[in-house]
Amino acid sequence: MTDCGLPAVSTPLVDAWNRARERGAHPLQVPGHKNQYWRPGAVPGSDLLGPLIRDDITLQGGVDDNAYSGGYLLQAEALWARSVGADHVRFLLGGSSQGNLAGLVAIGSPGAVVAVDRTSHRSALSGLVVSGSMPAWISPVIHPELGLPLGVEPGCLAGLAPTTAAVFVTAPSYVGTIADVEALARHCHDRGWPLAIDQAWGAHLAFLPGRGAFEQGADLVTTSVHKALMGYSATAVVGVRGSLVQGRRLDQAVDLTTTTSPSGTLFASIDATRAIMDQCGQREIERAAARVEAMRVRLRRVAGLVVVDDAVAGVPCDPLKLTLWLPRTGVNGSVLAQALWQLGHGVESSDLDSIVMTMTVVDDDAFCAQVADLLVTLIEQQRQAPRPPAPAALWQVTPEVVLSPREAFFAPRRRIPMAEAIGEVSAEQFCPYPPGIPLLAPGERVTAEIVRDIEQAGTFVRVAYCGDPTLRTIEVVA
Ligand SMILES: Cc1ncc(COP(=O)(O)O)c(C=O)c1O
Repeated sequence: MTDCGLPAVSTPLVDAWNRARERGAHPLQVPGHKNQYWRPGAVPGSDLLGPLIRDDITLQGGVDDNAYSGGYLLQAEALWARSVGADHVRFLLGGSSQGNLAGLVAIGSPGAVVAVDRTSHRSALSGLVVSGSMPAWISPVIHPELGLPLGVEPGCLAGLAPTTAAVFVTAPSYVGTIADVEALARHCHDRGWPLAIDQAWGAHLAFLPGRGAFEQGADLVTTSVHKALMGYSATAVVGVRGSLVQGRRLDQAVDLTTTTSPSGTLFASIDATRAIMDQCGQREIERAAARVEAMRVRLRRVAGLVVVDDAVAGVPCDPLKLTLWLPRTGVNGSVLAQALWQLGHGVESSDLDSIVMTMTVVDDDAFCAQVADLLVTLIEQQRQAPRPPAPAALWQVTPEVVLSPREAFFAPRRRIPMAEAIGEVSAEQFCPYPPGIPLLAPGERVTAEIVRDIEQAGTFVRVAYCGDPTLRTIEVVA
């Protein structure tokens, strides 16, 4: 029996990890720390290193032998696939970033046009660079007042050429709104297009009946295990279902992007997470959703505060995401986030208008109630006169694409002052992080509006992936 009160389910990787731990082998191969972390003084500087690596067991030559004769990883992947309704999945150690990269390599190819949600995480761009595909950018519906993305709907795909190779959409969005994947899948399949879903934020949805992207008809899905669920940092899973994307193609794409020395510990944490979800996932997620709903009830009473939910958004929202929209309270989301950080409660993201918090099954009643109280107190302390909304520009970028991301990535380049770059083609990315959605991507025309938006974003968050963190210069295609 487990502490979920249900019979234990199969956990091949976790069991093999435990056996490896018990064996206590001292290998004549990697890892360089030789598993000697448990012996005080065995590793030079073990007090420094020991706590950091004490759970590290390699997959090859650790959890399994060099030939993988136990087949534990394959078994664990098959169990995950069965749980989420996939035909074939691969465990990843490079996060959904790696899943998106591999996914776009699996569905794209040099010169192929792939329709990509322009509010995608920057890892989609990596996939476009590596695959050589040309993006046909599509934009989600934007809430007319809140300025937040509501998801891509079939109408957003109007105008795509019949020769489109595939469609890539993010659902749930960063702020928790969820696109209608079923309708998108119908639309895409009628045209023979595979639908890839970046479900990085929605791993838990796959354990609620009917809510996972595979169940709703997606052909390829990437999901982070470390975000909405409880896996080790950077764990993720990418998978396929149906015949539009071949499992073998996905394997090749994953193998292109992965290490040959995976951590058995990190992989085992994916296996353990799946087993917990199989046993009591639905119950625990529904309980967590009820706790977050209680937070929303409390927060809805705060004058002027908009709590983003199904009714406000007009589309289904992630039951575990807590997104607050602040302009009518006069509170600055980034200032509120800073106060929460000082108190030990870093938030997922913030900008002037909004603040996004990720809750999981781990956040219990007491914590949820305490955070709701704290939010109310801080908002009242920081309250000012209502102000007009200033939606983040990154939800509504409509770029002029001049070169494919791959052409721009490999093009000769020169660095020039940002103020002189208008009209040039960017060779680098400007990506407010979080949420990691590029304001300007390689291959796109630099415009006065984008330069203004980059400057403005720089006053609130780190603008990542550009060579000059002061944002005063930019690399353009020479
Ligand atoms: C929508 C989306 N997709 C993918 C990623 C990348 O996920 P990971 O951090 O697991 O690499 C993120 C990261 O925040 C994201 O927001």
